[in-house]
Parts: sequence; C-alpha cells; structure tokens
Amino acid sequence: MLTYPHQVLVTGGAGFIGSHTVERLLQENFRVRVLDNLSTGRLSNLPTHPLLDVVIGDIRSVDDVQAAMKGVTHCLHLAAQVSVTSSVEDPVGSATHNILGALNVMHAASMARVHKLVYASSAAVYGIPAQLPLSEEATLQPLSPYGLEKWVDERYAALLGSLHGLPSLGLRYFNVYGPRQDPNSPYAGVIARFLDRLLSLQPPLVFGDGLQSRDFVYVGDIARANVAALLSPRCGVCNVATGQQIDLLGLIDLLGQLTHCHLAPQHLPAKAEDIRDSCGNNQRLSEWLTIEPKWTLAEGLSELIRYVSPTHDYVNEPTRLNA
Ligand SMILES: NC(=O)c1ccc[n+]([C@@H]2O[C@H](COP(=O)([O-])OP(=O)(O)OC[C@H]3O[C@@H](n4cnc5c(N)ncnc54)[C@H](O)[C@@H]3O)[C@@H](O)[C@H]2O)c1
Repeated sequence: MLTYPHQVLVTGGAGFIGSHTVERLLQENFRVRVLDNLSTGRLSNLPTHPLLDVVIGDIRSVDDVQAAMKGVTHCLHLAAQVSVTSSVEDPVGSATHNILGALNVMHAASMARVHKLVYASSAAVYGIPAQLPLSEEATLQPLSPYGLEKWVDERYAALLGSLHGLPSLGLRYFNVYGPRQDPNSPYAGVIARFLDRLLSLQPPLVFGDGLQSRDFVYVGDIARANVAALLSPRCGVCNVATGQQIDLLGLIDLLGQLTHCHLAPQHLPAKAEDIRDSCGNNQRLSEWLTIEPKWTLAEGLSELIRYVSPTHDYVNEPTRLNA
C-alpha cells in the first residue's frame, strides 16, 4: 500500500505560482492542502485529485490557519496582497495580509512543528541595486511597502527559527511569468499585460522609457524551486532568478518576433516605486537547492503564447536569446 509521508499546506495555492506548485507536488505524490480566500486565485486553476483538498479561508484568521495546519508536515506560504501599487495606496491594508497574515501562518507552522516552512519573499526587498546581479548579501532598501513587508517576513521567519526552532527558507522570486497569470488583473505582471495588448493588436503600455530591465523567471522553474526548498535542509533566504536581464523594449521586440505582432509601445509617465534594473545572482539557488533554471525566456514565452492563444500558428520555434 502506498503511504504519503508528506502533507503540505500551500497558502495561496489557487493562485498563479501556487497552482503550478500544487500540480508539481501532486505529480511527486505529496498530499496537498490549499488554503486560499480566492481574492485573486481561482478554483479552476486547480485539478481534482485524490491527494488534494482545498480549504476556502483567510491567512488573517487565526482559526482558519490553525485548522488548515492540522496534520501538516510542510508549509509553503504564498498567499499575499501581491500588488506593489496597492501597497503604496493602502499600506495598512497590504500589511494586514503581508505582515500579520504571514506571521499568523509562520506562528501556526512553528507551533505545529512542521519540518519545513518555505515562503514567498521577493526581489522587491532589494530596492535600487548598488551592483548587479543582486546577491543575497546585498543591502536591502525596499522602495515600496510591499518590499518592506516581505523583508519583515524574512526577519520574523529568522526570529521564529531562533525562538522555536522553525526551519524556514524564504525565496526571493524575481519577475515570474507563465500560463494562468491574469492579464486583466491590475496586479498582472508585465509579460501578461504586454502579450494581451499585442494579441489584441493594441500597443503595449510602458511606464517610463522602457529601458528598465528585469530578470524574468518561468513559473515552471519557480515550482521546481518551491518543491526543492520544501525538501532541503537549508534555511535562510535564496534568490530564484535566471541571472539574465532584458529591458522592456527588448522584451516587446522578442514578443513581437514570437507572435508576429510588431507594435510600437505607448509610453506613460514612470512610476516612482518602479525599480530601474533588476537581475538576480542564482549561485545560491544552484548550490543550496541544485536548481538551474531550465527555461530560456524565448522558450517560456513560446509556452505562454501557446497557452494564451492555442489556435494561432504564428509562434516561431523558440530561439535562444543569446544564441
Ligand atoms: N508573480 C511574481 O512575479 C512574484 C514575484 C515575487 C514574489 N511573488 C510572491 O509570490 C506569491 C504568489 O504570487 P502570485 O504571483 O502567484 O499571485 P496570485 O495573486 O496569483 O496568488 C496569491 C494567492 O493568494 C490568495 N490570497 C491573497 N490574500 C489571501 C488571504 N488573505 N488569505 C488567503 N489567501 C489569500 C489569492 O486568492 C491567490 O490565490 C506572493 O506571495 C507574491 O508576493 C510573486
């Protein structure tokens, strides 16, 4: 008879990154429980599976979190208010999810003596980089309440480690993209929004000059890192990045090549909370979790285009960016 030694609680499991990670955990025969309030996540993102149960609840509720934590051996905390802009407009509301909600999950995980807590931090903790690529030792100077909230989470996780022996690893995701990112959500990543505009033959909207650069990581690689982190004895913080950067104008150009929709962007005023350049050093990811990103940007974008618009045949074979 098969036994399933691991019961993983995934908060925010009905969301973009959560649902890809849940799929991967199920493929690897973990029992999975999702806790999600469906504010941005959807039940339709999740499969029906005998090893999966879904609890609708809120990370800000002590009762919801404690009930969901029962019998759990590992916890992946992803639920959050994910919009940088919303965190600037409503820092108090944002902090109730991203600090108090996160602390509620971490405390419950600690009391439940889980074998491992993995939680979503963000490249937003770094702020303006003194040097690229950003290593985990770089100075942290977040430009937004969102970035500060993620940093506070890292400090709480470390503190609960020393107070109660909670083993935790915070993953500083860089810019994540892939299927199921909703382009119509005000929180959508730039790739989902650019692609949506291009495929409806409208110019992509760019805040500022478009020369700001980002390190884009395919969601399949994020899911691999999440699972590896749950099983790893390593504690602390770790970037999840590709180590490659591209500016937004270059990205629009690449999307144009892959979709055959070439449209000049429309420029809007720059946002104050926008970081100019971002690129992560992924040496620790490789050393600690033995994860190397598998997807080049062109491959990941091609996969996304096939998902968004499966009937079109205008996707070229992926071309390696630096080939
Ligand atoms: N997508 C990225 O580029 C990126 C980059 C860095 C960090 N992150 C972090 O990764 C995590 C997952 O982000 P995502 O991109 O999948 O976003 P998402 O919005 O798709 O997922 C967040 C999930 O959390 C749920 N949720 C929100 N508030 C909740 C609450 N109070 N209680 C219970 N559930 C709640 C939502 O319904 C959703 O399913 C977040 O912590 C985010 O801050 C994402």
